[in-house]
Order: sequence, then structure tokens, then C-alpha cells
Amino acid sequence: MGQGFNHQVFRISDVGGMRTPFYYYDISLLRATLDEVTRLTAGGVMRVHYAVKANFNPRILREIASSGLGADLVSGGEVKAAVEAGFKPQDLAFSGVGKTDWEIRLGLDYGIGCFNVESIPEMEVINELAGEMGVTARVAIRVNPDIDAHTHKYITTGTAANKFGISMDALDDVIDRITTLPHVHLRGLHFHIGSQITQMAPFEMLCDTVNRLQDRYEERGIRFEMINVGGGLGVDYDHPDEHPMADLECYFSTFKRGLRLREGQELHFELGRAIVASCGSLISRVTFVKENRDKKFAILDAGMTDLIRPALYQAHHQVQNLTSTSAVCEPYDVVGPVCESSDVFAHDCLLPLTRRGDLVAIRTAGAYGESMASTYNLRALPGCAFSD
Ligand code: LLP
Repeated sequence: MGQGFNHQVFRISDVGGMRTPFYYYDISLLRATLDEVTRLTAGGVMRVHYAVKANFNPRILREIASSGLGADLVSGGEVKAAVEAGFKPQDLAFSGVGKTDWEIRLGLDYGIGCFNVESIPEMEVINELAGEMGVTARVAIRVNPDIDAHTHKYITTGTAANKFGISMDALDDVIDRITTLPHVHLRGLHFHIGSQITQMAPFEMLCDTVNRLQDRYEERGIRFEMINVGGGLGVDYDHPDEHPMADLECYFSTFKRGLRLREGQELHFELGRAIVASCGSLISRVTFVKENRDKKFAILDAGMTDLIRPALYQAHHQVQNLTSTSAVCEPYDVVGPVCESSDVFAHDCLLPLTRRGDLVAIRTAGAYGESMASTYNLRALPGCAFSD
């Protein structure tokens, strides 16, 4: 077996017969990460909702539900999957700018803990549907704090140019409006500034914004039951073995230090990537090695349909040859078979001498990997295997 992979009980013999490509999940690393989240948020004030969009593999969801976390959802499909996996309805938060009527009804029917509401029209529809069903909807207002998270532009969500949330200038009007709606109960404020954030500065700025807003509304006699600061904590894609866990300690302590929470107020988080990214690898086989004039290509049976992050966000994932024992390393462009020039996992990646049939691991692929897979080119969806 190739170098690295020391956090995964990965044996080629276990999976040699499996059809590639497939996602391989290290359940013990997932559990260790969940234990760390639980340890760092103990005490009842902090509640973590796992962002299901990062990975909704049923086995992964069951594992996370049984650790006691809540779930953050963005579609009716995710609401159903979360309930099936064992998350408690009161621990569900439903986000998203475009919830349709059936999705809102579904959430109301389950009695979910919170709708994170992104506009006045959405709030009015939630009020109307809740009234029809004879229930009260619990909501939080998603605020767009206009903070640049300094991450890839496709995963920046909290600036004024993004479609997400309600701008700070409109917040007074929205709160005034909401208090006139009879079937809606305002629980708090919700924020999410972006994803794969590895510096704490944007989170510190978020804390300042939350503190200012809380002071402002307290003067007006409005107190919130909870503040939800979203997710966004990044992982180390370059060093998967050295840093198999996100810096959870630093992340939670940034908020503990930076926020002035009020008596009895809950603090909610919505972490996705930081919980599942490191525990997953995409395992693939080399179909051909091909040489052009000045390049060597390792052509895999996995492509952008299995893991779209490199093509969509120019994301870097470490690629490892698990089979080759060669001491000679060479640069390869590691590519997939899909008919798109962006179907490239890595350029000039140094790998030991690579041959047709070798198994390759694309690391740190547990978040937004399997969940973003598609059947473009009529390719089959990737399979999955688990280490426990
Ligand atoms: N809460 C809300 C409202 C979100 O929109 C997201 C992610 C999260 C929480 C979880 O964020 P996380 O902790 O995972 O950073 N497909 C992209 C990431 C898109 C993130 C979308 N929203 C990628 O592969 O990098």
C-alpha cells in the first residue's frame, strides 16, 4: 500500500473486489470528530446542527444523529432523510432562499425546531400555511451581515452581493412585520457567511456584528432565544494525515470569547464540512496511463461526476497511489473520463510510477463529494464502503 492513510483502516484486500469508483468512509474518524464536537460544546448553551447537504449518505447520517447533534436542512428531501436517520424534529433547522409550499408544510407537519427565513414574502407564506394547519412556526431571521469570508467566490454567502439573507438595513422593518404575524414565533437571528473558512478573523467580525445587533434590539425591548452563527469552518485539504480534524477548538472558542450571549440564550452552529470532509476518500482505479508530448496523464475511472469540487471550485484534494511501491516519483495530470476539459483532479501531481489497474485515493472527499455526484454522461453514481 502507498504512503499515508494512517487514519484509515484501509486494506486493498477489503475492497479489491468492489466496483470502483466508490467513497470510502472512516467511521472511527467520524466518531472521533463527533466526540470532539460534543466535548467542546458541552454545557447546554451550544447546539450543533450538522449541515446535511455536506453528506447525506444514510449510514453517515445515522452515525451523526446518534451522536445527538441536530441537523440543518435545505430541502424537503433533506428533511425526510434527517427524520429517517433519527434526528429529532425539534432539532431540525430548515434553511434556504426558496422553500416551496410543500416543503414548508412538511417542516410544519414534523414540528421542526426552526425555519431560517430569508425574506418577508417567505415569512408571510410560512405564517399563512401555519395558520391553515393550526400550528405556530418557529423561525429565525437570516441576516446578511455583509462580511467577506475571503474564501472561493462560489462559497461566499454573507456579502451584500449574495442572494442570501435579509440586509441589515431592512432588519428593523422585517422584525416589525414579523411581530404582527399570528402564526409565527421569532426565536432568533441566523447568519452564515461562507464555507471553507480557515482564518478566524471573519468569524470574529461576525461576533462583533451579532453583539451590535443584540445591543440595538435589547434597547428596543427585543430579546432573542437563540443566535445561530451558521457553519463554514474549513479543513486542511493539503495535509490530510497531519490534520485529520478541523480546528474545532479554536473555532468554538472564537465564538465563546467573542459573543456576549444573554442569560438563557442558546448558540447554534451549522457545521457540515468540518464534521465529514476528512473521514471520506474517493477510491478509484487507473484505467490508462497515457503520454502526450510533454505530459503524462493518469486517467481514472472516477471523474467530475463523482467529485466535482476540483472542476467547480479549483479545489485541491491530495491524490495517493495505494498500489504502487515504486520509489520513483513522476508528475501526472490525474484526470477523469468525462467529456469536459475541466475533468481534472490534479495537475502535475507527484505520484510513484503509476500503472493501469492501480488503486488511487482522492483524500478529504467526505464533504460535498458524494452529495454532489451526478449521472452526467450517463455514468453510474459512485458506490460506498465503510471502515468500522
Ligand atoms: N449553513 C448554511 C446556511 C449553508 O449554506 C451551509 C453551506 C452550511 C451551513 C454548511 O457550511 P460548511 O460548514 O459545510 O462550510 N459545495 C461547496 C460548499 C457549499 C456550501 C454551501 N452552504 C464545496 O464543495 O466547497
